[in-house]
Amino acid sequence: MAYSYGNHEVYRYWSNGLKCDRVKRISKKEIYMKTEIVKIDEEQIDQEAIARAGEILKRGGLVAFPTETVYGLGGDALNENSSRLIYAAKGRPSDNPLIVHITNMEALKKIVTEIPPAARKLAERYWPGPLTMIFHKSSAVPLATTGGLDTVAVRMPSHKTARAMIDAAGGYIAAPSANRSGRPSPTVARYVIEDLDGLVDMIIDGGEVNIGLESTIIDLTGEVPTILRPGYVTQDMLTETLGLVDVDRTILDANSHQAPKAPGMKYRHYAPKGNLSIVEGEPERVVSYINERISVLQKEGRKTGVIATDETVARYHGDDIKSVGSRRDEEVIARHLFRILREFDDDNVEVMFTESFETAGIGQAIMNRLLKAAGHQVIQV
Ligand code: TXA
Ligand code: MG
Repeated sequence: MAYSYGNHEVYRYWSNGLKCDRVKRISKKEIYMKTEIVKIDEEQIDQEAIARAGEILKRGGLVAFPTETVYGLGGDALNENSSRLIYAAKGRPSDNPLIVHITNMEALKKIVTEIPPAARKLAERYWPGPLTMIFHKSSAVPLATTGGLDTVAVRMPSHKTARAMIDAAGGYIAAPSANRSGRPSPTVARYVIEDLDGLVDMIIDGGEVNIGLESTIIDLTGEVPTILRPGYVTQDMLTETLGLVDVDRTILDANSHQAPKAPGMKYRHYAPKGNLSIVEGEPERVVSYINERISVLQKEGRKTGVIATDETVARYHGDDIKSVGSRRDEEVIARHLFRILREFDDDNVEVMFTESFETAGIGQAIMNRLLKAAGHQVIQV
């Protein structure tokens, strides 16, 4: 039995116990099941709730859960119906492959055809953690999970709740970020609930995540290891372990018309509802430019916002001024960025400006996400 969900098909869960019977038609977001919301403290894991999550996942259901990067929307990676449900709940095009989450190296063997030496080195150094590696997939992984590709993205998260849940579910969880397609990835449970309540069986609330940006993705299937998505594990860190590491050109060059190698990177992403521009230049000029623009916009009756830093936040006079953190600590900036983009939506801000950041280290990931959020609108002053 199938239901139409935008352009996608939602397949009714095969198992009984799940309450999908009230479904008539699922367009956009419509509540069609009762979502259990449970708080789990990573340091004191509620084993009973984890067992329940494991049962749901084994039956083909969906559970949203915290990881150290962002919240994930999990389903059994080896069950093609679960993967279809993930695409439907997320409203995501089904050519955009999912990351398979595991908890140990033994599990990796079953889902890939070979583990190249570079992958072993990276796993030793960065797993469990915020790094995703692309391998050639084995037949154990359905094409529905990999968006039709013969490669598979694999990550071993370090978050204890995530790990307990993956183990309880049988070891393989496919999970995109737990937002509806196109919205900023959720770093707090509130936004998972906002996007997915009624569309998944369970949401695990583990508080604010630690990193705040999605994992670094590195492709190990070509001749030279290539970064497809920058993240907390930086190019320098990867180069230190592997020697030569390339970066997908489309990440570096905002004007590139080539398709990015990670299919998901081509979609408009992380975008707030209002219009966001990045203002780049000497700090004093950035502050005065943004304030001038805001004065004009306010006269027109537009609601304005600024993503500032601790160093400059007191100097702006828009309607909604938020500091993303101090320039001296980019990890804090990474952790707060997506939440702030969401808060502008909560406040119905129409026009936003953000300062720009260095592209070294984790700054490369911060600017990559900001550029996407801004639809590549950069103003040089
Ligand atoms: O930190 C993260 O990676 C989070 C947490 C939940 O683990 N997950 C996440 O998943 O960000 P998602 O689906 O939002 O982003 C996955 C990205 C997409 O851009 C997708 O196109 C790319 O990974 N990807 C997945 N499999 C791929 C493959 N076989 N080849 C190339 N890119 C792939
Ligand atoms: Mg995502």
